[in-house]
Amino acid sequence: MARILITSALPYINGIKHLGNLVGSQLPADLYARYQRARGHEVLFLCATDEHGTPAEIAAAKAGQPVAEYCADMYATQSELSEGYRLSFDHFGRSSSPQNQRLTQHFAGKLDQAGLIEEVSERQVYSPTDGRFLPDRYIEGTCPNCGYERARGDQCENCTIQLNPTDLIDPRSALSGATDLEVRETKHLHLRQSAMRDRLDQWIDSQTGWPVLTTSIAKKWLHDGDGLQDRGITRDLDWGVPVKKGDQDWPGMEGKVFYVWFDAPIEYIACAAEWVDAGKGTDWERWWRTDKGAGDVRYVQFMGKDNVPFHTLSFPATIMGSGEPWKLVDYIKSFNYLNYDGGQFSTSQGRGIFMDQALSILPADYWRWWLLSHAPENSDSEFTWENFQASVNKDLADVLGNFVSRVTKFCRSKFGEEIPAGGAYGPAETAAIAELDRRIDAYTAHMDAIEIRKAAAELRAIWAVGNEYLQAAAPWSVHKTDPEAAAAIVRFALNLIPLYAGLSAPFIPDAADKLAGTMGLDAPAWPESAEAASTALAPGHAFTVPDVLFAKITDDQRTEWEARFAGTR
Ligand code: MF3
Ligand code: ZN
Repeated sequence: MARILITSALPYINGIKHLGNLVGSQLPADLYARYQRARGHEVLFLCATDEHGTPAEIAAAKAGQPVAEYCADMYATQSELSEGYRLSFDHFGRSSSPQNQRLTQHFAGKLDQAGLIEEVSERQVYSPTDGRFLPDRYIEGTCPNCGYERARGDQCENCTIQLNPTDLIDPRSALSGATDLEVRETKHLHLRQSAMRDRLDQWIDSQTGWPVLTTSIAKKWLHDGDGLQDRGITRDLDWGVPVKKGDQDWPGMEGKVFYVWFDAPIEYIACAAEWVDAGKGTDWERWWRTDKGAGDVRYVQFMGKDNVPFHTLSFPATIMGSGEPWKLVDYIKSFNYLNYDGGQFSTSQGRGIFMDQALSILPADYWRWWLLSHAPENSDSEFTWENFQASVNKDLADVLGNFVSRVTKFCRSKFGEEIPAGGAYGPAETAAIAELDRRIDAYTAHMDAIEIRKAAAELRAIWAVGNEYLQAAAPWSVHKTDPEAAAAIVRFALNLIPLYAGLSAPFIPDAADKLAGTMGLDAPAWPESAEAASTALAPGHAFTVPDVLFAKITDDQRTEWEARFAGTR
């Protein structure tokens, strides 16, 4: 039994996530966690909301709520949606937790002791009316390039030119409209990542078998242009982790907070402490400190490609720089983007389909199956309603659902609702078992390698074996002349249902539970082999005929949803 630590990139708190976000980290992480648990390994699967930074402040202001209150509400919403999609986190934490505040300050203190923090003076825009420094996107004015009057301090939305706040004509505060802006000196902390370049480079080189997407992005940031830059890890904001060295004040840093990308990954660790404090576990250091038992933990992270630099460089720099024996990641699974119907999903524009909307029209398994079997692993992929309809109807309804429905109904009508006896298995069953075992090996290998599309294709093929077997064995015809032989066919086919429940549970957990329940079992279980599974349910074992496992998506539904989700929300 191995111990596997799994984290999903932390979703920003600023609103409900879309399906592209879901398939880019949380959903594949859940698939892997469920699979590894099913294989008997000890898993700790953690995720949390990423609550600091200007996006949270802006979203709260838009909602007309104090930021802490907004975050608490949105945390509740996101937790509920995670449950809706059956994301099996051992704990879903919050980066604003006291545990993360302490740990973030602790890391900053250690980095400072190691000489990796530099105090730098910067010139930034200050608004006396608002009583604060304004981050770039809180400053508005007229674009010097195109004359657009609502250009932001970082960019003009109209002509897309990149700007500095001081480029704007007639700049004003986006918070209050105040125009009495000044440029003031302010001190900030920089993390000397450049000093750790060689260590990071060696560490990345020593990793074997990482996805190309992950290593290519990491290498690009290490070697392109000026290479790894030092980076500011503090901000002049109210909302965030107050800047301290451990529990000591940091002179000159009063009223400042750490930059969100500094404290967010530390929440991966703090979340384990939250898990213990919530009474769900007893020892979190065993997962995170190599001097306290985490030496034999395998740590796997899941994230979208835009997150890769932070996880291959910045966070490892924090961990290595601390000089303490924290666990480093062993494998980073990263994803490309999922597009929506010819364009991009967009949170700011409300374009695409969002987690709450998807669940309001269909159960979680439908989405899990489509998203995972089309995961954007090797390139971007695209959601279209047509493809979604085809995939649900064919894979789930025609292949898996139809098989289960046909065999259970046929058995009920001819032999009653229990496994019939019949004669011994023959060559057809032997051949089906051999094919299943071969495919289960392939499926397992793809799941171990986190090759999600390949695993989904193999699972679909495993379902198809049952259908093809049943079609060829045709118990409905055989029964007319040889009921004994028909009974054996039915016994074999019914025994495939628990096999399918066990193998399918990581992808479609609700359907798997239903299949197990139908066959009178408590829960789906990973099969030892197809051979063993084929005789697991003995003659006389009772079952029930399930009602529709997967309803087909009709053309009318598809057209209606296509129209309903075409605009922006
Ligand atoms: N909130 C970030 C995003 O959605 C991800 C943060 S991951 C963490 O892109 F490591 F910082 F936690
Ligand atoms: Zn412009």
